[in-house]
Amino acid sequence: MNETRRALLDALAAGPVEGPALAQRLGVSRAAVWKQVEALREEGFSIESGEGGYRVVDVPEYGAAAIQFGLDAPYEIEYHDRIASTNDRARELAADGASDVVVVADQQTGGRGRLKRSFSSPSGGVWASPLVRPRRPPAEVPLYTLAAAVAVVRASREAGVDAAIKWPNDVLVGDSGGGDDGDGRDDDEGGEDEVDRPGARKLAGILTEMEGEADRVSWLVVGIGVNANVDVEDLPPGATSLRAEVGDVDRRVFLQRLLEVFAELTGEGADLRGVLDAWREHAATIGRRVRVETAGETIEGDAVDVRFPGSLVVRTDDGERVVHAGDCEHLRPAADR
Ligand code: BTN
Repeated sequence: MNETRRALLDALAAGPVEGPALAQRLGVSRAAVWKQVEALREEGFSIESGEGGYRVVDVPEYGAAAIQFGLDAPYEIEYHDRIASTNDRARELAADGASDVVVVADQQTGGRGRLKRSFSSPSGGVWASPLVRPRRPPAEVPLYTLAAAVAVVRASREAGVDAAIKWPNDVLVGDSGGGDDGDGRDDDEGGEDEVDRPGARKLAGILTEMEGEADRVSWLVVGIGVNANVDVEDLPPGATSLRAEVGDVDRRVFLQRLLEVFAELTGEGADLRGVLDAWREHAATIGRRVRVETAGETIEGDAVDVRFPGSLVVRTDDGERVVHAGDCEHLRPAADR
């Protein structure tokens, strides 16, 4: 999206604006303004030109200009109807030196999940990959993933879905204690505590990728996949969607809200400690009995807190353990069985 168009969308979002004032503000001719307005109309915007100037009365359902319109976050939107993976595209843009771009797609044909798993991404979802270049050390990167999970939960709650986060960054609905978390694996693998199957359904997942030096991130791609307006039949077992929970949502508004929360928590000058507080507020894991599979061992106990930069503190029979990475299951406390 060129700069003039982005500035035009920002100006129109702020209210009716006269052609001459727009031309001056954008540093282009009135004819150029008219041409851009016509282009927006062709893309589905309904723009009245009357007293007070140009006024947007209707916005297309989705797409780059629609998402950009009224977006209160410092990102440029690159939109694709269909793409292999928004993370792959964001990585390409990163290699070209881009920043503060969000790659968005209606459908992914090669969506990727954590641990090299594939990620179902049918048409109607919110598949988005913000590309940013924070001036931060790589050690702080997990906070961006947690911030994305918080953003998904807040946008989901505003859409009427009671979502919560399972450490580190799965967003679940109806989490009364584990079950298949929607990644296609059966989490009920026995053990001392029985997994409470009927509860959790996975609504969203996050895949963060980065490049950097020891002391500084070069680029960061936070791939966010939310099962929005999709049928559960098109998703792996155990997954849910906003459509299944509350009916179709306005994806434009949902994604805008998500990006705004993400920018607020992680943007230039933000105090990243606020991410942990926000995460705790929306976490289903704290206070739960958990089993965490790490690279080398299985840790079981009560999740008591999350600690910088996103490690889970688990109280076990052998004392407190701080877990930096792993697959977490919520277990039903033995007393409840
Ligand atoms: C997971 O749950 O394993 C993480 C899933 C992350 C999926 C998102 S969808 C947008 C972005 N593009 C991808 O290919 N993956 C991420």
